[in-house]
Amino acid sequence: MLQISNISKAFHIGTSNEVRALSGVSIDLEPGSFLTIIGTNGSGKSTLLNAVAGSFRVDSGTTRLADHDITQWPEHRRARLIGRVFQNPFSGTAPSMSIAENIALATRRGRVRGFGANVSPRLRDEIRDRVRSLKMGLEDRIDNPIGTLSGGQRQALTLLMASWLKPDLLLLDEHTAALDPKSADQVIQLTAEIVGRDKLTTLMVTHSMQQAVDLGDRIVMMHKGRVLHDLTGADRDNLTANDLLRRFEDIRRREQLEKPAEALLREARGAEQLMAILGAVAAADANLDAREIALMKAFADHWGLEMPDLEEGAISALQDFAELRQIVQRYLAINPSRQQANELLDVLQHMVHVDDSMSTEEEIVLEEITAMIVGYVTLRSDDARYEVVIVPQTEDQEPLITSLLPGVSPVQKRGGMVYLVGRFNSGRFADLVARKYIDQGLFTTRLDL
Ligand SMILES: Nc1ncnc2c1ncn2[C@@H]1O[C@H](COP(=O)(O)OP(=O)(O)OP(=O)(O)O)[C@@H](O)[C@H]1O
Ligand SMILES: [Mg+2]
Repeated sequence: MLQISNISKAFHIGTSNEVRALSGVSIDLEPGSFLTIIGTNGSGKSTLLNAVAGSFRVDSGTTRLADHDITQWPEHRRARLIGRVFQNPFSGTAPSMSIAENIALATRRGRVRGFGANVSPRLRDEIRDRVRSLKMGLEDRIDNPIGTLSGGQRQALTLLMASWLKPDLLLLDEHTAALDPKSADQVIQLTAEIVGRDKLTTLMVTHSMQQAVDLGDRIVMMHKGRVLHDLTGADRDNLTANDLLRRFEDIRRREQLEKPAEALLREARGAEQLMAILGAVAAADANLDAREIALMKAFADHWGLEMPDLEEGAISALQDFAELRQIVQRYLAINPSRQQANELLDVLQHMVHVDDSMSTEEEIVLEEITAMIVGYVTLRSDDARYEVVIVPQTEDQEPLITSLLPGVSPVQKRGGMVYLVGRFNSGRFADLVARKYIDQGLFTTRLDL
């Protein structure tokens, strides 16, 4: 169905910034096969998807799709054969148009333009039926603007739109990465359903090892613009998320990013932070069940840690939601092994999924620290997407600000002086932080980076 043959792509050729984003990548996909792509930060995953979608011309190599040589086809022509979902829930839909209008446009993808978004009664019925199948209760809201929906709801709809015409190829680029864990789960389930039902040939980039092994029938691991591993059949079927992590560890080891003696020392130093993280998360969870405790025990055993005392009253709730974030930051600063960080992530994600006993605030804190650890595990340098700044309104607010943010100097930003409170991964967490300063009477706002 899809034959990518020996494609290469470099950016900024001939300058000191030259990047060889793809170096001789070949992938041959059978009709109906579902490939998940993982790889280190900057390894060329998105560039590969963009090359297939025709966002730019490749430097060499050919691409064939559904018996067409599409190498020279412009993006809009390829769009007739390809459905795409991006990481950002805000791309791919028109926020002020209704669900029904957005879908109506998608049903005409790559075809006649200029007919606006008229929705015939027949199409309306079909839209309602298919939206109902998302099981998000949106079927009664198809005339509401898409902009009023949550990120998870929007990604579900974008997926529905991208797959509406049963494209020859579906491209998903980390389409759950910007969602909270619960919404991410929902969208992943939906992805499996739609791809399975319509037998769509699919390329999905993900940073989640778990998603990579749970979905699809083939896994490609990329590194530095090349395919490092291409796993199918029994090799792939017996693979666990930890096996994949080990392969990332191998890459790191090969690149000698750290010396063994140092690593051991780091693990020992991380113990204190890990205990604090587990303790705090346990305290946040009002009814720890046996499975959650077993999971924490297994983790502690594996890494030779002492379990926190989980008896009633032995652990106290966090005084301040920012505190846990700081502990996680300190833990990651030690540069712990990625396998350990990934296992910690499993424990945290499990705690969020198992029950709904957490307060919204606790959930948001978990969302933030989960995103921080995911960023670390997948070797992202700086994943923060939001910045919280205080904009002083009068000069006499400045002593208060300096007392709240010792050592922070004002910087010039968007035409005025602001104080940077911090950078965060979760928008909801950033809002939570901002509220703390707003409550002090300070004009505080969140900037999307
Ligand atoms: N349009 C572009 N212009 C210049 N450089 C680019 C462009 N797109 C990608 N790159 C560079 O090509 C390399 C591969 O980037 P790419 O976005 O494909 O990585 P990725 O594997 O998707 O990483 P991530 O996990 O961060 O999404 C990087 O060094 C990146 O900076
Ligand atoms: Mg990418």
